Amino acid sequence: MKQKREILPFVLVAALVGAMGFSAATSAAGKDKPDPKQFARGAKAWAKTCARCHNMKAARDNTDEEWHVDVTHMRVRANIPGDMARDIEAFLRASNK
Ligand code: HEC
Repeated sequence: MKQKREILPFVLVAALVGAMGFSAATSAAGKDKPDPKQFARGAKAWAKTCARCHNMKAARDNTDEEWHVDVTHMRVRANIPGDMARDIEAFLRASNK
């Protein structure tokens, strides 16, 4: 019994450090981690838009740079609105790791 009580503070500290580490990691992850709303919009737009003319290429088949080039190319070719193209690119870049 006594041992359990001594362990509790360590568990709490560990949980706190873990939570802080997690939020630091998510905010520091920066440009490749879109906010969840952008990610969801991008995923939806990708599924709806990008398979209209050809088969889907899996997100992990391209690097971030290649996706930037391909999405830019497709934005022009398929006349995709800029904000939608940004959402799709963010989704693809977050999904290819
Ligand atoms: C209006 C039809 C159309 C839509 C919509 C479209 N594409 Fe394409 N896509 C093409 C055509 C046509 C090609 C063949 C290359 C070319 O002629 O431009 C192509 C080629 C590609 C390629 C291969 C490019 C390469 O490197 O050669 C990729 C990857 C691609 N599309 C991804 C996408 C993604 C991602 C989207 C959604 C943002 C998309 N496409 C939407 C018509 C479309």
